[in-house]
Amino acid sequence: MNVGVLGTGMVGRTLAWGLSEIGHDPMIGTRDPAALAGRTDRDAMGNQPFPEWHAEHPSVGVGTFAEAGAHGSMIFNATSGAASLEALHLAGEANLDGKVLVDVSNPLDFSQGFPPSLFVANTDSLAEQIQRTFPGARVVKSLNTMSAPLMVDPAAVGGGEHVVFVSGDDAAAKGDVSTLLRDGWGWQHVIDLGDLSSARGAEMYLLLWLRLMGSLDTPRFNISLVR
Ligand SMILES: NC(=O)c1ccc[n+]([C@@H]2O[C@H](COP(=O)([O-])OP(=O)(O)OC[C@H]3O[C@@H](n4cnc5c(N)ncnc54)[C@H](OP(=O)(O)O)[C@@H]3O)[C@@H](O)[C@H]2O)c1
Repeated sequence: MNVGVLGTGMVGRTLAWGLSEIGHDPMIGTRDPAALAGRTDRDAMGNQPFPEWHAEHPSVGVGTFAEAGAHGSMIFNATSGAASLEALHLAGEANLDGKVLVDVSNPLDFSQGFPPSLFVANTDSLAEQIQRTFPGARVVKSLNTMSAPLMVDPAAVGGGEHVVFVSGDDAAAKGDVSTLLRDGWGWQHVIDLGDLSSARGAEMYLLLWLRLMGSLDTPRFNISLVR
């Protein structure tokens, strides 16, 4: 399957390589591929400059947001939450129409420093904003509740006995994403939270996730449910 991965950060890179490793054909989207190819700086998290990463992962295609949008029959939004609507506009509404759009972003507001707050919460979510702005896209919120490496390798902690959520209004789209999560990346426990308004809880969990990361002093953890 051709997949467009919007986002050049740790999440976009991880998802793109994770898709490539299970036989898909990912293209990473960015605002300006030439500028991206010239980057020499590490990001705020200390990740290597994109060209260095790409040299080690040459099977991953790179294009503009619009080229990645056109390439994918499924699209991942792995852009900064504050810029996601802008990035999706650049990807092009026509390139999203009728496609499953997996929204991995979080609505983090760093304007007051760390830890961030959320710029939308409680009665709305970024996923719902995206769905309202692009009504033809089949938005599924998922994978935003764990750190990037675990998204494509849940067995890296706890033997994989932990959960990933899906939220969305389109049952078939959630089914496609759940299949990819289970059969592609080995998620044993995919929990359907319900319609897209359930993304509010998944996004608001970030406030707890950030504090857990501080207390545990690692991002390598996830939610495991006992019932
Ligand atoms: N890091 C994690 O482990 C993790 C886990 C779960 C969820 N998330 C969420 O996943 C998303 C991606 O996180 P990340 O850490 O990989 O990367 P990030 O630094 O949050 O986002 C990088 C991407 O955002 C794009 N971007 C930034 N400003 C933009 C603007 N004004 N217009 C258009 N695009 C813009 C960048 O485009 P260019 O390529 O053009 O620079 C780049 O592709 C975020 O929403 C984050 O909250 C992260």
